[in-house]
Amino acid sequence: MAGHDFVMFDLIAKKRDGGEFDAAEIEFWLRGMLDGSIPDYQTTALLMAIYFRGLSEHETFLLTDAIVRSGEVLDLSGLPGCKADKHSTGGVGDKTTLIAMPLAAACGLTIVKMSGRSLGKTGGTADKLEAVPGFRLTLSPKELRRQAEAERLVLMTQSNNLTPADKRLYALRDLTATVDSLPLIAASVMSKKIAAGADVIVLDVKFGRGAFMPDAESAVRLAELMVKLGRQAGRQIAALITSMEAPLGRAVGNALEVWEAAETLKGHGVPDLRLLSLALTGEQLYLSGLAATRRDGFRLAGQALDDGRGLDKFLRFLQAQGGDTAKLEQGGFLQAKTQLAVSVPRGGYLQAVDAAQVAGIVQHLGAGRLKLEDKIDYQVGVWFDKQRGDKIAAGESLAHVYAESEEQAKAAAEALLAACTFGDVPPELPPLIYGAVTAAGFIPWAELQQDYQ
Ligand code: URA
Repeated sequence: MAGHDFVMFDLIAKKRDGGEFDAAEIEFWLRGMLDGSIPDYQTTALLMAIYFRGLSEHETFLLTDAIVRSGEVLDLSGLPGCKADKHSTGGVGDKTTLIAMPLAAACGLTIVKMSGRSLGKTGGTADKLEAVPGFRLTLSPKELRRQAEAERLVLMTQSNNLTPADKRLYALRDLTATVDSLPLIAASVMSKKIAAGADVIVLDVKFGRGAFMPDAESAVRLAELMVKLGRQAGRQIAALITSMEAPLGRAVGNALEVWEAAETLKGHGVPDLRLLSLALTGEQLYLSGLAATRRDGFRLAGQALDDGRGLDKFLRFLQAQGGDTAKLEQGGFLQAKTQLAVSVPRGGYLQAVDAAQVAGIVQHLGAGRLKLEDKIDYQVGVWFDKQRGDKIAAGESLAHVYAESEEQAKAAAEALLAACTFGDVPPELPPLIYGAVTAAGFIPWAELQQDYQ
């Protein structure tokens, strides 16, 4: 840092006392953290100071920019068409990427997407795709280009060279109870999205029992910050704010979610999953200019689903990356050793399904990891035969558990019944989509839904 001789001690004290950093100070910190000249205990002290004192919008932008520049930035400019990306802050049963990205590619966008592995309660798209036998998540630059040109859809694990500062910061935050900071989350998510090179970014910011953000208001605040960061980096960006009180769709678990994505693309999807997948696709089409209005974007996405182009694109993409799709197309894809129907002792309406508890149950069955090195079981999980609001008769099946043993299946079935609430009257369910944060401001569901007809 020519001309600057900061001492990390002073930076920690400055933030502790509510001061504001400039670009050189943030650069000094990240560089020192990565080259080892600043010890982790000082970085974690600063993270805790930021947790309590926050970062201004300008500081958050500077931090995001410095994280982006800490590694490689993908240059997608040589690829055809408008490059789009979609990101979810993480949810239970959230397989919308597997539906929205083939639809977006089928409608003319180019998707080169980096996806994470699951950690903790939420599943990662990378793990879901590995449930398809033979599917490869690492491609050479030449393979990437060839596939992007031929199929317009590539999905890989994040390159190690992208945003190394985020990797380090996240690992330290995870150990020091400093993950839950709005500016740190926004800088972490947006640095990865910006470094991944897309022109158009659509975020799905989730709130509720199965999400990072506890309520809609905090999800809107996070989305507003991320949309600002994206715009400052010159990207077209918007965010949908969506509820994660109950699992999305019917499936939770890797192979089960791939199966449900394919079923949805075949036209057999449940309304919540179909709506959100089309809304996320439509927003990308609208932001890219391929659709003149949000309503047109939603309509074009629906057409690509209904006429089978989305399914065709999904299968071709899986095959192009080595996936064997025969069982996905013809049956036999779901191969857990035990399948157990979970029937309810008395009838009523399914009022609530606790997404966080379901995530824990499925993780316990072996579908998720606690540490990145943990092995996961692609076949285990839960398929809900009923969703919130459905009527269910005594003895009828609420769900099917897919497990490696009868014992595990029985334990999961019991826990599943405890995670669900039943009542005598139909529940009043709030809309899945709370609203959208766009460059023009917040649009509530009451207004937004007119575009989703
Ligand atoms: N996801 C991220 O990538 N970063 C965060 O800080 C939180 C969620």
